[in-house]
Amino acid sequence: MEPPVPLNDGTLFPWPAYGSGTALRDTDASTPVASAIRAGFRHIDCAQMYKNEASVGRGIASALEAGGLARDALYVTTKLLEVPPGRTAADTLRESLRLMGLECVDLFLVHEPVRHSDLRQAWREMEECKMLGLAKRIGVSNFRVQDLEEIATDGATVPVINQIEFHPYIYEASKPVLAYMHEHGILPTSYGGLTPLVRIKDGPLNPVLVEIADRLSTQAGQAVTEAQVLQLWMKKKGVPYTTTTSKPERLQEYLQVASLPGLSDADEQLIDTAGASAHHRFFCKWIDDGT
Ligand SMILES: NC(=O)c1ccc[n+]([C@@H]2O[C@H](COP(=O)([O-])OP(=O)(O)OC[C@H]3O[C@@H](n4cnc5c(N)ncnc54)[C@H](OP(=O)(O)O)[C@@H]3O)[C@@H](O)[C@H]2O)c1
Repeated sequence: MEPPVPLNDGTLFPWPAYGSGTALRDTDASTPVASAIRAGFRHIDCAQMYKNEASVGRGIASALEAGGLARDALYVTTKLLEVPPGRTAADTLRESLRLMGLECVDLFLVHEPVRHSDLRQAWREMEECKMLGLAKRIGVSNFRVQDLEEIATDGATVPVINQIEFHPYIYEASKPVLAYMHEHGILPTSYGGLTPLVRIKDGPLNPVLVEIADRLSTQAGQAVTEAQVLQLWMKKKGVPYTTTTSKPERLQEYLQVASLPGLSDADEQLIDTAGASAHHRFFCKWIDDGT
């Protein structure tokens, strides 16, 4: 794991997080989650949307037991999908906790602002989750500047993080929201960081990533992969990432980034320039629509 990053509530945010979304959505995630914890991940990122909280809970329980670990050795995040009529965010979180077999989550996020017709009300209900001790802290995901402004009423809790899609093809478009978060002490964290490798084939970044990975491999005397170059880039930008894999062999590849030398300014610039030459948003495309 990387050194944890301080949040605006004075606590520390452990990363990288292992996500139970992507290929694990709607599946039994117990074995991959347990493998990730056994491999050394200490942050599990889940969501009501992924419909696998029960199996994530089983994976957590078995890994904690097998490793002789206490619950507080692990940081568990889940996300509010929506608030059904007549219910509250706390009701939905209680159900998530029942499914996961946990007393509380470390972090509860509003998954997408557009799923809430009254975002301020949704945020007040998130604050209630924290007050009731169901979530140790609260944050948001996929929030634009306008969404962050909407919930920033007098006396309101400032979200600890905003988890956003983040990679070099979206860096330029993300600058306004990154600047807002920086100004208000909201930590940007990422998902989708491997998009240039996994979801956009043959883009302008591909040859740049190959060239940097080859050069760093020679310098480090060990294989440095293109995925690791992208993760080093996010690290250099100060954006802790959430990633995932369905393949046990990739777990160590992700975790080993922590022991690699940091990216140079020149390599960061090469990636910034290639990334800025194309715009690709894979998730939450409505963010670009201005809707
Ligand atoms: N807040 C949100 O709205 C939101 C949205 C999406 C995701 N998330 C969270 O973020 C987590 C990470 O998701 P992500 O998919 O966005 O992460 P990512 O880091 O962009 O991509 C992870 C995927 O990359 C693949 N991969 C890694 N190295 C590869 C390589 N060399 N060649 C081909 N494929 C490679 C892995 O596939 P293999 O399985 O084959 O290894 C894995 O499925 C999710 O599980 C979820 O928890 C949140």
